Amino acid sequence: MNEFSKEMLKTGFVPTMGALHEGHLSLVRRAKAENDRVIVSIFVNPTQFNNPADLKNYPRMPEKDFEMLESEGVDVLFFPSEKEIYPNGIEAKSAIDFGQLEKVMEGKFRPGHFKGVAQVVSRLFEITDPDNAYFGEKDYQQLAIIRELVEQKKYRVKITGGPTMREADGLAMSSRNLLLTPDLRQEAAKISQALFHVRDDRGKKSLKELKSEAVDIIERSGLLKVEYLEVADAKTLQPHETWDDKNTLRCLTAVQAGNIRLIDNVEV
Ligand code: PAJ
Repeated sequence: MNEFSKEMLKTGFVPTMGALHEGHLSLVRRAKAENDRVIVSIFVNPTQFNNPADLKNYPRMPEKDFEMLESEGVDVLFFPSEKEIYPNGIEAKSAIDFGQLEKVMEGKFRPGHFKGVAQVVSRLFEITDPDNAYFGEKDYQQLAIIRELVEQKKYRVKITGGPTMREADGLAMSSRNLLLTPDLRQEAAKISQALFHVRDDRGKKSLKELKSEAVDIIERSGLLKVEYLEVADAKTLQPHETWDDKNTLRCLTAVQAGNIRLIDNVEV
């Protein structure tokens, strides 16, 4: 291969924290289809966890992950140590100001979380220098933060968002689902049911009324607790109080299931 053809090869990148499932693999497959080679990273980034117990309990199963990635035909697995990612320590968080984007929902309830995400993703982009990078809509606000990061830092990478993969009962796939007790796992299906209710009845009722019905669907049995449930502009992520027919809207929620915090969202 000469230098010129090497230059033309496209690299796709999928950053993850491991404990891989079909949601991650959907992004890997898309990356495979659209690039000449694919890099997947597995790194449980300490700087984006605002709760030490969450970091400690986060599921880790590298051997199983390696096997899954191998059978998907991933070219490069990047499984760095903390020292490789943060050679100068974990203090230097991103100085980027994400404005209102980081002040609502996840930004409000997980202070510092997006600064940590931006810090690690910047570092990963600088190491892997991809043409394309793939993120899930499951973490919808994170996807918006990454787009803003790329714009502000003028990275050459193109960001692609992939749809949320769900279990048969509608629960959004998540590594944290592995931590749910059987009862809470079953109950957690209410989260997507509530979001689908808002989507399906949009236009029939006021936004306020539908939001309160959605919260009730999730909380009725007393096992789940809603942290927030908002209908927000799909681009700016600013919550709406009334329906808006001009802009695309998204219903986003975070729910506490025992000690496990789950998030989900749908277009409405
Ligand atoms: P992690 O939670 O492992 O997710 C890695 C990628 O998979 C993210 O882009 C996430 O949105 C996507 N993903 C997770 N569940 C999904 C689902 N059910 N359907 C489709 N995509 C899904 O998100 C992170 O890791 C970290 O914050 C990271 C970006 C790696 C930075 O540390």
